[in-house]
Amino acid sequence: MTPLLEVDDLHVSFATPRGAVRAVQGVSLSLEQGTTLGIVGESGSGKTVLSRAIMGLLPRHSATQTGSVRYQGNEILNAPNDELRQLWGTHIAMVFQDPMTSLNPVLRIGRQITETLRIHLDLTKSEAKETALSLLMQVGIPSPVERFNAYPGQLSGGMRQRVMIAIALACAPNLLMADEPTTGLDVTVQAQILDLLSTLQHERQMAMILVTHDLGVVATRADEIIVMYAGNVVERAPTNVLFTQMSMPYTEALLGSMPRISYPSHTRLLSIDGRPPDLLSPPAGCPFAPRCPYAQGKCHREKPTLVEGAVPGHSYACWFPLPIREKAATS
Ligand SMILES: Nc1ncnc2c1ncn2[C@@H]1O[C@H](COP(=O)(O)OP(=O)(O)OP(=O)(O)O)[C@@H](O)[C@H]1O
Ligand code: SF4
Ligand SMILES: [Mg+2]
Repeated sequence: MTPLLEVDDLHVSFATPRGAVRAVQGVSLSLEQGTTLGIVGESGSGKTVLSRAIMGLLPRHSATQTGSVRYQGNEILNAPNDELRQLWGTHIAMVFQDPMTSLNPVLRIGRQITETLRIHLDLTKSEAKETALSLLMQVGIPSPVERFNAYPGQLSGGMRQRVMIAIALACAPNLLMADEPTTGLDVTVQAQILDLLSTLQHERQMAMILVTHDLGVVATRADEIIVMYAGNVVERAPTNVLFTQMSMPYTEALLGSMPRISYPSHTRLLSIDGRPPDLLSPPAGCPFAPRCPYAQGKCHREKPTLVEGAVPGHSYACWFPLPIREKAATS
């Protein structure tokens, strides 16, 4: 069966006065209907650029994109905007980090939802209002009839994010891209919003890409996780495999930076010593080599590519993956 989304060897670079910033360097992934893919990595690793490239939201004048992004088998990378507009909202929708920048501050929230409904679906005014109220209820907004007439500034951050989710879900998309959907919200509200997303995703059999630098978020909510480092996928695995059999030292460092691996959620990554490489001139070898405690000569000379691990669906990019290092240490 054709996957819902297939990304193949996607490269994205930005033209800047200092040269080309290679933000995404050959990413491949696929996603089945109804499943959740977590994308995790430090700040600047390319998570947002990758998500926006998949959506076709990067500025055409500065971003060069090569490779392939297929949605339901159709190529959408570099597709014309009017073609993409048919997909946005109805097939693929996005929830961004900061609802204040995505909501119109001078439009009542009810209107913002009904407008989305009326643009994409052939609904009358009263049908759109009824649907909007039902959506507000589904996303857990108390007193939806009153909130319908509120302006975004009259709602709390958590409520605004719920409104954004209502708008994203208005046209029943097959794929929801959620890029750091709870950053900036307090911990209890974060959990509520993430649980809401998971519940709605299961109810609607929607696929979701959950982008975060918070490993706790993907540990409990994603079926599969991709770890990104400096524009590259450095490890990919079903969630339980990643947490129990990670092979890549960067993933190990991410896990080590959590207070406890079993810690349920909302655990921020503490910083890992050193800095990611300059994306203007990526190093010849493994991008993690300058920070990796296991780096050897080969790591600095040759870039490792993703190879399949022993468990189906597990792959990693490392010359000296964890099991081999362990064997070397015990022999
Ligand atoms: N329009 C742009 N022009 C030039 N460089 C860009 C542009 N957008 C992003 N970048 C660069 O691409 C790299 C990846 O950025 P991206 O925003 O995808 O990181 P991220 O993983 O989402 O980080 P964060 O966790 O902070 O959101 C960064 O080095 C960033 O500076
Ligand atoms: S390839 Fe070498 S430097 Fe890179 S993560 Fe593996 S051991 Fe570390
Ligand atoms: Mg980002």
